[in-house]
Amino acid sequence: MTVQLWTHCRAATMQAGAAQPYGLVEDAAIAVEGDRLAWVGPMSELPETWRDRSDALYDCAGALITPGLIDCHTHLLYGGDRANEFELRLGGASYEDIARAGGGIASTVRATRAATESELLAQALPRLLALMSEGVTTIEIKSGYGLSLEHERKTLRAARAFGTREPVDVRTTFLGAHALPPEFSGRPDDYIEEVLRMLPLLHEQGLIDAVDAFCERIAFSPAQTERVFEAAHRLGLPVKLHAEQLSDSGGAALAARYGALSCDHLEWLGEEGAAAMGRAGSVAVLLPGAFYFLRETRLPPVALLRAHGVPMAVSTDCNPGSSPCTSLLLMLNMACTLFRLTPEEALLGVTRHAAQALGLRDRGALAAGLRADFVVWDVERPAQLAYAIGFNPHRQTVFCGRVL
Ligand code: NIG
Ligand code: FE
Repeated sequence: MTVQLWTHCRAATMQAGAAQPYGLVEDAAIAVEGDRLAWVGPMSELPETWRDRSDALYDCAGALITPGLIDCHTHLLYGGDRANEFELRLGGASYEDIARAGGGIASTVRATRAATESELLAQALPRLLALMSEGVTTIEIKSGYGLSLEHERKTLRAARAFGTREPVDVRTTFLGAHALPPEFSGRPDDYIEEVLRMLPLLHEQGLIDAVDAFCERIAFSPAQTERVFEAAHRLGLPVKLHAEQLSDSGGAALAARYGALSCDHLEWLGEEGAAAMGRAGSVAVLLPGAFYFLRETRLPPVALLRAHGVPMAVSTDCNPGSSPCTSLLLMLNMACTLFRLTPEEALLGVTRHAAQALGLRDRGALAAGLRADFVVWDVERPAQLAYAIGFNPHRQTVFCGRVL
């Protein structure tokens, strides 16, 4: 197997229980064997064997290395855009007004259904490349704009196709219970039946890594959400939830009862929900892009999450309606400026905790045995990644041991 060596870097290892903030190792070396990290530590302790065996050597001259970034909540694949609704909102309409008037998610459903799989891929590719240009090596992509077997399958297949065509690992989430499609208007329970019919069929085809739902007064009730969770459980699929984004409907506590990998948004989360998440080990995925774009004023309860030991992740929520955002670095900044996370919490949110939100144990930190997914940055300190606004100091991505 090929051995590659990165020397004289500052390694933000993000390891749990590290003595230094960010698990930072100054003047570090990283040895990669094949697609795995083989050794990570101070230059002074680098075993001779790695130096002797290395086929390639990269002297980083003090540059920072972090784990590959993980965007753990996106709706990357959709047809069209909603710039017109942006204008409507600037004219005074609210996100919920637009949704109730048949716009919002429903308008993206029309455009997504009208697109072929290759058209969907072509429209989403620039968004994916933008994320990857900032060091994203793992991305979660949700369905949820197809809302029928045919179109949900098309979306999930397209997501999987990205994972084979581009140097990025794609995790797919079935979000059939995202909105009510027009043909089920006024019949939400019947549509939930339809979601329960789609789920095993799509799962059989290997298209689903996790199951999500939108539990909200403009979407599905806790009871309807629970039916989806039960079905996911029967198939052995992990669940996650769009919870407490616009109101407190108790979604987080419900998701926690099903051992949810994550609960996402959470601006309206209360103490009970936070405590339940803490006990269940669910990650809180914070989405500052949606908070900003919808001009929300209610902050997610970060102090409560900290108090209950809930790990926090940070993601773009890339979608056409509430967060048309393709910069995870910008989300680091917004998580700090808007939500008051520390830069260390924010960086954990796009590395170790984002991996946890996807149920992945083989990435999110720099340690021997993990996947060799990492990023070399033209900065010296990890906080610089969260500090800059609209600046990309990316130098090099290594994906599964491959230098891109
Ligand atoms: O995460 N909350 C539900 N879904 C998306 C928004 C979808 C849309 O408006 O198109 C979100 O914010
Ligand atoms: Fe979302």
